[in-house]
Order: sequence, then structure tokens, then C-alpha cells
Amino acid sequence: MNQLADPKPLVLVVDDNAQNRALAEATLESEDFEVMLAEGGLQALELFAARRPDCVVLDVRMPGMDGTETCRRLRSLPGGADVPVVFLTASRDVDTFDAAQRAGGDDFVTKPVQPAELILRVQMALKMRRLDATNKDYFELVRRQRDDLLRLQLQKERLSSFVVHDLKNPVSSIDLLAQLLQRDKRLPPHAREAAESIRLEVASLMRLILNLLDINKSEEGKLVPSVTSLDLRELSQNILQANEVRAKAKDVTLLRELGEVTTVSADPDLLRRVLENLVDNALRYAPKGSRITLSARHADGDVEIRVADQGKGVPAELRESIFDRFVQLAGGERGAQRTGRGLGLTFCRLVLDAHGGRIFVDDGNPGAVFCMRLPPPA
Ligand SMILES: Nc1ncnc2c1ncn2[C@@H]1O[C@H](COP(=O)(O)OP(=O)(O)OP(=O)(O)O)[C@@H](O)[C@H]1O
Ligand SMILES: [Mg+2]
Repeated sequence: MNQLADPKPLVLVVDDNAQNRALAEATLESEDFEVMLAEGGLQALELFAARRPDCVVLDVRMPGMDGTETCRRLRSLPGGADVPVVFLTASRDVDTFDAAQRAGGDDFVTKPVQPAELILRVQMALKMRRLDATNKDYFELVRRQRDDLLRLQLQKERLSSFVVHDLKNPVSSIDLLAQLLQRDKRLPPHAREAAESIRLEVASLMRLILNLLDINKSEEGKLVPSVTSLDLRELSQNILQANEVRAKAKDVTLLRELGEVTTVSADPDLLRRVLENLVDNALRYAPKGSRITLSARHADGDVEIRVADQGKGVPAELRESIFDRFVQLAGGERGAQRTGRGLGLTFCRLVLDAHGGRIFVDDGNPGAVFCMRLPPPA
């Protein structure tokens, strides 16, 4: 062993949450960094003055002195002006980003932090210090551009989450009012039918809004399923019933084959919406006079639920990418304008991931079969 090797770079991790500290410590130590931990701003400043770490990883939100204030003060300590500071934040939010930049942060990482990402950012921050002046200029330029892009992205996310959130209430009200009209016996049949159509459109809009909200939640690490044992017969019956009108209009038969499966462990609301998305897709692609089958079976200890249609199916080479956001296959739905947004399957995959399960496409020969596996209760 070479005793004279470079000392390990020393990283100061500042976070009020013990679990986060432990995770960062384990992550960085596994990559041969030396780590010291602080529970808050004041302790961080003391440790910094005493040991002059090579890099600081700083949580933004902490009680007492928060991350931005800590960074500002750190910058005026001896050796503090040019030490790289990597901010960690739970909120993907423009204001937090701006505050972190103003306080003199070098980098901005959003939680939940992937271990590989944390390592990469700290390594980058350290490399930066060793660059010569010319390369530093280039690096600064690239970093400025990246920060501008990130800021724009955060602004866009904020706008869209406002819009989506604010749509939820008026859309629910529209549905309620349409329901009143639909039940009003004094109205002529065509008016009540119109009210029914309004409700179908509203349901589709609501599906989109909820998909978007949950995709955002998942990005922030907040999509946590409340798993209970739920009655699959009842759930599947409700979903098929709710789609009966649409199916009839297309002369499509909705079938259920649950076999021996009676219950499944999942979050009731999330699983219902996954199935709604799959049945919605199936109905869009099902040819006139065909069948859509919702089936279930036990497979390798998991519960497998399938939604199968007899439409054009999904080409083998696209069976992974259709789960990415905004992906829609060329061709659309029989010449009609595209009604979807390419978010339904993204939502489904995130939900299955959050359950420790999986979702994939099987060949229906002809048709598409969406197949999900839900593990038994932990
Ligand atoms: N049952 C199916 N048969 C054939 N293609 C399908 C089927 N389900 C999904 N696809 C393809 O996968 C794409 C993505 O589906 P996804 O549900 O994510 O989005 P979408 O239905 O287009 O929009 P939305 O966000 O409203 O659900 C669809 O646009 C379609 O091209
Ligand atoms: Mg869809």
C-alpha cells in the first residue's frame, strides 16, 4: 500500500435529517471520500473553520440557520470563498434555485438524491477546483447555460403544476352540474344525452389532470402508495361498468376473467386509475365488434392483471418506449384528432414502480396486452 497517496478528499455534509446524513455518508464513503457530518448551519460553520473540507454538501431547508444563510456565512470564512458548495433540496422550485444561486451555491441537486448523482456532482465540484484558468472559463460558460436551462425548466414546471392544480376544482364542478342535468327528468332526451357526453369528456380531462399531478408527485419522490388488500372483483366491475356506454357506442364487449384471484395488495385509488388508463387506451384502439378482456391470475407469487384488446397492438420494438412520457405511436386513432397526451402509460409505470411491481406489453396476436405484476404484501 502506498502510504504517501493523496489524502482522501474531505466532504462536509450538512443536513438536519439523520437519515439523509447517513445516506450521504455511506454513499460518499463508498467512493473513497472522507466525510464529516453537521446537523445544522452553526455546527457546519464550526467544522468548516476547524477542518477546511474540500467540498460542502448543504441541505437547503433546515431549522434555525437554513442552507442559504449557512452558505452566505461560509463564503466569508477563510478558505470559504472558493470551496465548492452543492445544494440539496427537496423542492424543485425556482425560488429555491434562485436563493441557492444568490447565496453562492455551485450546484443544485434535487431530492430524492440518487447515490450515483451525488457522487458525480461532488467529483465534478472537486475537478472544477483543479482546472486551469482557460478551462475554468469554458466550464463557467457551460455551467451558466445549464443553470439558465434548469431555471427555465423549473419555471415551466411551476406554471404547469399551477395550471393542473387549478383545473381540478372547476372540472369537478362541471361534472357535478352535468350530473344534475343528466338526472333532470324535465329535460328533453337530447339535452340529457348531451349532459352524458359532457361527463365522458370531463372524465377524460380529469384522468389527464390526475395523471399529471401524480407524475409530478413521483418526480418529487412523493408518490407513496397506501397499500391495502382490496377486492379486485368489485374494482374491476366498477371500472368496466363505468366504460359500458363508451364500449356500447363502439360495439365493443367488455369481459372479465378473474379466475381464482379475489384480492390484490395495492393502493385502491392508484390501481383504479391505472386500470382506467389501460381500459381507456384499449377502448381507443379496439375495432368495432371486438372484445376487451380484463383478466387476472396468480403468477410466481405475484398477482398478474392483464388488459387485452384486439386492436392493432404495439410493435415489439416500441414496447418499452411507450411508457416514456409524451410518447404516442404514429398513426393515431383512425384518422381522428389525437385526444391523448402520451402520459397515461407513464403514470401507470410510475405507479407500478412505487408498488415494487412492474408493467409491460405482451403480444395479443392480434391486439395489445398490457400486463402488470403486483407483489404480495411485504
Ligand atoms: N391498447 C393499445 N393499443 C395500441 N396502442 C396503444 C395502446 N395503448 C397505448 N398505445 C400506444 O401508446 C401510446 C401511449 O399511451 P398513453 O396511454 O401513455 O398515452 P395516450 O393514450 O396517447 O394519452 P393519455 O395521456 O391521454 O393517456 C399511445 O398514444 C398509443 O400510441
Ligand atoms: Mg392513454
